[in-house]
Amino acid sequence: SLTCCINPSILSADFANLESELARISNADAVHVDVMDNRFVPNLTIGLPVVERLQKVSPVPLDAHLMISDADRWAPLYADAGLSSVTFHVEAAMAPIKLARELRARGAKAGMALRPATPVEPYLDMLSELDMLLLMTVEPGFGGQAFLDVVLPKIRRAREAVDGSGVSVAIQVDGGITEETILRAAEAGANVFVAGSAVYGKPSPSEAIEALRTNGQL
Ligand code: DX5
Ligand code: ZN
Repeated sequence: SLTCCINPSILSADFANLESELARISNADAVHVDVMDNRFVPNLTIGLPVVERLQKVSPVPLDAHLMISDADRWAPLYADAGLSSVTFHVEAAMAPIKLARELRARGAKAGMALRPATPVEPYLDMLSELDMLLLMTVEPGFGGQAFLDVVLPKIRRAREAVDGSGVSVAIQVDGGITEETILRAAEAGANVFVAGSAVYGKPSPSEAIEALRTNGQL
């Protein structure tokens, strides 16, 4: 179906045990890897050397979310690492169309992310360059924040544009996705759901993934 995916975020996992944390979510569609540089966002996580190792040991495809400056320079290196999808922030890219093309040329799905306050309209004419549009539903930087309902109209607008254009672009939401909020995001038109604390904050991450699927009517 159009609505498929739960991508747990390892931001809420145990960073001392990433390989075993990946094994706990083998029923996920992909694992969401939050890369932060303490410049684009006021927080710091992991970078290319760790992501390259995760790519080698993960039972599920890697979905990188690059919250880093100089996206034009860095994002292609994540595609070269063999990741399934690489998402850069439009606010951090000098030439988003060129960058999306470069990611695809290097074998990755091209994703573009927008902060909650960044309007989607200016980018609707470049949908054919993208495999995924990530609409942030919290201010990027930290897990465990509350879902921003104010983003729902933007999700609806993006869904209308994607359906109207006939191109196949996933609409991903990230931030504050829980058993309570997932249906609102799905009904607005999102079809890929990132969940950090709602998966890794539970005693059984794999059961939490199935609960999200049920509640989102995926
Ligand atoms: C926030 C990250 C998210 C984060 C989501 O900047 O991009 O991926 O892990 O965490 P939750 O699901 O707890 O809001
Ligand atoms: Zn993320």
